[in-house]
Amino acid sequence: MSHASSPSAIRLHVNIDHVATVRNARGTAYPCPVEAAVVCMASGADGITAHLREDRRHIRDEDVRRLRERISGTFNLEMAATDEMVAIAIATKPDIVTLVPERREERTTEGGLDVIGGGAALRARVESLVRAGVPVSLFIAPSEDQLRASAAIGATQVEFHTGEYANLTGAAQALELQRIASVCTLTKTLGLQVALGHGITLANVGALAKLPEVHEFNIGHALIGDAIFLSLAGAVRSYRGALDAARSSDA
Ligand code: PXP
Repeated sequence: MSHASSPSAIRLHVNIDHVATVRNARGTAYPCPVEAAVVCMASGADGITAHLREDRRHIRDEDVRRLRERISGTFNLEMAATDEMVAIAIATKPDIVTLVPERREERTTEGGLDVIGGGAALRARVESLVRAGVPVSLFIAPSEDQLRASAAIGATQVEFHTGEYANLTGAAQALELQRIASVCTLTKTLGLQVALGHGITLANVGALAKLPEVHEFNIGHALIGDAIFLSLAGAVRSYRGALDAARSSDA
């Protein structure tokens, strides 16, 4: 399906929300997130991630429909665990849904989903999606308790929130990397796939990509920002190269 098809390759999913943010800032039809997604796929991405927020601040319903039609690789629909979003996902049939916490006032997704606190309501929504043939990834903090709860309610994948890792430096960052490494190992033992996302940049992706259990990265803000300087195709190729280099080096 994609050029990242060797057994050790890591999947790169580009989050194209901020192309829609720029479009919506002027109320124009451009730049088009669907066209951006096509460029990303042609430049080495394995999938596209888009977050349909309750307030539709960037991606809109029509974008979701068109992404489903145009994306040849994996289409990962990020959304809150609400009845409205579950109905949209079941109608659209993305390749995977990532459930995230959502607060109207936040700038971006802050923190992971509280799977333990989500209880029976969250479990029911995961079950509805899985019954409809849509696998579910849960965006959680790198916490063993949240991971075990995710496995217990039928998630196919977890995506560990790397925002804290991205914000730290030095010894504190090394400690957070160890915490992420240890939950990644446990995730594989539990039979789930491992994704990472949030705050990932060209500067910090290498150490995360060396974790052997990681199957996929979801990268948005920094990559779309880098595209201003490198072009969108150039930015995707740079991240693709950084992932492949980290996985192929023994260092
Ligand atoms: N993964 C999830 C679940 C997210 O909510 C986001 C932010 O939309 C990302 C990855 C991408 O994070 P960033 O934009 O910081 O690269």
